[in-house]
Amino acid sequence: MSAKIISGKEIARAIRDELNEQVAGLAKEGLVPGLATVLVGEDPASRLYVGMKNKAAAEAGIHSRQITLLDSTSEAELLALVDELNADPQIHGILVQLPLPKGIDEAKVLLAIDPEKDVDGFHPINVGRLATGDPDVLAPCTPRGVIEMLLRSGADPSGKHVVVVGRSNIVGKPMAFLLLRRAPGGNATVTVAHSRTADLGATTRLADILVVAVGWAGLVTGEMIKPGAVVIDVGTNRVDDPTRERGYKVVGDVEFDSAKEVASAITPVPGGVGPMTIAMLLANTVEAAVRQRAKDADA
Ligand code: GUN
Repeated sequence: MSAKIISGKEIARAIRDELNEQVAGLAKEGLVPGLATVLVGEDPASRLYVGMKNKAAAEAGIHSRQITLLDSTSEAELLALVDELNADPQIHGILVQLPLPKGIDEAKVLLAIDPEKDVDGFHPINVGRLATGDPDVLAPCTPRGVIEMLLRSGADPSGKHVVVVGRSNIVGKPMAFLLLRRAPGGNATVTVAHSRTADLGATTRLADILVVAVGWAGLVTGEMIKPGAVVIDVGTNRVDDPTRERGYKVVGDVEFDSAKEVASAITPVPGGVGPMTIAMLLANTVEAAVRQRAKDADA
């Protein structure tokens, strides 16, 4: 068997086309959604991701403001910036790129973001709303992107056994909560496996749908996959590749060549989940803007 390729690039393009239309319609009503991204420090991968997020926002007609702060920025300075963005009526979404430099308390920063502007869905209020099944919560972009990919490629998780490998706050845990919701894209039976899972292969082989998000290149091989399963690879890992001019290539957490012989459908890396994360950030920003307008109208 050779698996069908689920192209995140194509699905993200379709979603971004839909958003372009929605944003153009909102502009006619006088509403321009605004996104602020905050990058602290020099991490090259974070810099690249934040740059891509801003470019995508601008392309969608979203007002985007990118703020880059020095590695030496204090927690107090960052908190003051978050306060300023919370109060800025042109900004409906705030994203502080993680990880933050040592010495800045990540939890404190996430707590300072207005939950209504929390387009990452990382504020404890939004985490709690997601965990309690609120259908209207701003959900974290990567797991939300995975759900969209499953639905739009005909792999509805409802009633399926989904195994999520990874328990991070950014992907694994919110992924599990989205899959459990009584809502479209939810209603799955969910197992969360992680680095202390005793026999990872025995667990992953139970999955009708396998979502892998651990940041470990090639961790999941074909023999760890049930024949016919749908495999979603969230990993993006740089591995040395002397045949390339830049000296590395980007691979997922799943060993693609062996996995595609066993799975019925699989996401590639790159071109899989990555573009979906960005599309969902734009979707969350537009949603946040529309909700804030409705709230202001009620006030
Ligand atoms: N770092 C890695 N992924 C993400 C993300 O989705 N949002 C933020 N803010 N930081 C990240």
